[in-house]
Amino acid sequence: MDFASAQQRIQYLSTEINRHNYHYYVLDKPLISDYDFDRLLDELIKLEKAFPELASPNSPTQRVGGGITKEFKTVKHKYPMLSLGNTYSEEELTEFDNRIRKAIGDNFEYVAELKFDGLAISLTYKNGELVQALTRGDGTQGDDVTTNVKTIRSVPLVLPPGDYPPEFEIRGEVFMHRANFEKLNKNLASELKEKGYDDDEIAEQLYKNPRNFASGSMKLQNSAEVARRKLDCFLYFIYSEQPVAETHFDSLKKATEWGFKVSDHFKKCSSINEVMEFIHYYDKHREQLSYDIDGIVIKVNNYAQQQELGFTAKNPRWAISYKYKAQSVETRLLKVTYQVGRTGAITPVANLKPVLLAGTTVKRASLYNADEIERLDLHESDTVFVEKGGEIIPKITGVDISKREPHARKINYATHCPECGSELVRKEGEAVHYCVNEYACPPQLKGKIEHFIGRRAMNIDSLGAETISGLFDKGLIKNYADLYQLTKEQLIGIEFNTGDEENPKKRSLQEKSVTNILKGIEDSKQVPFERVLFAMGIRMVGETVAKKLAQHFRTIDSLMKATQEELINVNEIGDKIAEQVVRFFADEKNQLLVRSLINSGLQFEVKEEEGFERSDKLAGKSFLVSGTFSISRDDLKKLIETNGGRNVSSVSGKLDYLVAGDKMGPEKLKKAEELNVEIITEQEFFELIK
Ligand code: IVH
Repeated sequence: MDFASAQQRIQYLSTEINRHNYHYYVLDKPLISDYDFDRLLDELIKLEKAFPELASPNSPTQRVGGGITKEFKTVKHKYPMLSLGNTYSEEELTEFDNRIRKAIGDNFEYVAELKFDGLAISLTYKNGELVQALTRGDGTQGDDVTTNVKTIRSVPLVLPPGDYPPEFEIRGEVFMHRANFEKLNKNLASELKEKGYDDDEIAEQLYKNPRNFASGSMKLQNSAEVARRKLDCFLYFIYSEQPVAETHFDSLKKATEWGFKVSDHFKKCSSINEVMEFIHYYDKHREQLSYDIDGIVIKVNNYAQQQELGFTAKNPRWAISYKYKAQSVETRLLKVTYQVGRTGAITPVANLKPVLLAGTTVKRASLYNADEIERLDLHESDTVFVEKGGEIIPKITGVDISKREPHARKINYATHCPECGSELVRKEGEAVHYCVNEYACPPQLKGKIEHFIGRRAMNIDSLGAETISGLFDKGLIKNYADLYQLTKEQLIGIEFNTGDEENPKKRSLQEKSVTNILKGIEDSKQVPFERVLFAMGIRMVGETVAKKLAQHFRTIDSLMKATQEELINVNEIGDKIAEQVVRFFADEKNQLLVRSLINSGLQFEVKEEEGFERSDKLAGKSFLVSGTFSISRDDLKKLIETNGGRNVSSVSGKLDYLVAGDKMGPEKLKKAEELNVEIITEQEFFELIK
């Protein structure tokens, strides 16, 4: 194809694709099949590859992303991005109405619209083309996230001809549909699970709600990942030199005509009572929307009147947001049960009569500790209020005392461990009760074995919590050293429970899984000393401390002989850790465990690293690695250490580099940016040690 015909064809394809995008993502009424759409897009991609000089920065091919934003440029807003005053009470809304009446009389209207729970965005269009997308930032200046915003299909990159001004800004909210959020979060969880993360680590990495997901996504460096997240965007406000209409209502209509996605749920109201009706209606029906809203925004409709009302230091006087209270329901307390963790820490749990709340059935809520039960003054069979804030786990916010039965007994905190019957202890100054029967309390023993086989410890992934529990209950293992004595004959046919409480299932071990289990156990004998030390579950000895101890003492014998003083002399080992280490090895039972593990052939000496060349290229520099990389995170950390660098576990102003992988935690990224920490990719890291 020659240049001129390519130019013509590219023009045609772009317009067609934009039109179909609009019908699909804005109007929700596709005109052609996905297959036909993909064919148009494929043709355009090929043509742009053949004639790169014809590829426009606003071509619909930009939607799939691929652009990397190394650093989000800070840009000053042409019109400051103000926030709204807000209220939770109808009286204050009436006061707002009175203030307006006093200022401009009775002759005005409101527009009530949804308050979308997302991330505010400001888009600039010049001659019908999107040229810039900024986040709110501090209201005066925001981050340039144009590359990422271009992947949002409902945001037009090029407008079809229309009566819009040559330059204008349009503001709105980037958000994620609930169903999409749940799906993506679920996928993320199973991906992490497959990679061997434990439940706590997974919970930490998952997004708490669609809003966090959406705002985390906008700050991703890789726009292809943003594209995969299928964000959406409602627009709700136009700024331009020449007003585009006389009223807000008409400007929303205009925005719709020009091709923007404006929500259908807005209404002109002639009185505050009509506004209240709108508020009540959506409080009742908001669950039926496919996305989260956290309130209603009320704006004076007429622009001239808006101008007359003006602004306070922070907010416009002509608008306010009414926020919905967190969703809350009443249900009945059935009983309080107590969970025992690996360390013996007790967590009280409220078992509730199942109740529907914000789309999910709630049966349990954490009660945290004894003080919380006291604070709620919880009694047996109480009717309680359960609330779901931004978090996934619901909480009990109060008790409906009027519904309490006359002779209901107060809930007294358990005095004994529900699992082993020993007396619970609460140390002074701590909120948590402990079962101190650490050598005989079944969930603690099982918990220690589970920790031992964990991915970051011995990594025996052919075993899981359920098999451990089954083997323990049958008396085949009492501690982690017993794992190494298991035989095929003992294991075949062993039954264990799977499924959950409501849907319990039994499984029995077959030859294939037995072979896998034994192989996993055998392979773990090669796991390096530092991880064996971590696996042993000495209190306060996490991965980093285990590594330090291993590197310093080199063998288990010298570590076991170390005195409190010798331990404190090791860099970054304090009194408390030293005390725990001494205490652990002074215990005869633990000495026997260690002997048994040594006899089974586990690694109890530091081996010189193979395959990692030493250098001091990174001497004096600190690194934090976050996310996933082409090599394992552990190997990356090892590379940092063998090249003289130091791994740290949190972002601080002293951090030299944040090595950012895929799916890194958005909080870390945000903090690093705030503190001006240098953020580097995996490739850039390898450049440093080349
Ligand atoms: S109007 C000056 N309309 O709420 C008027 N804001 O506190 C500016 N928001 O930062 C905002 N839905 O992120 C407006 N329909 C809506 C909204 C909305 C959500 C957010 C927006 C803004 C914050 C105001």
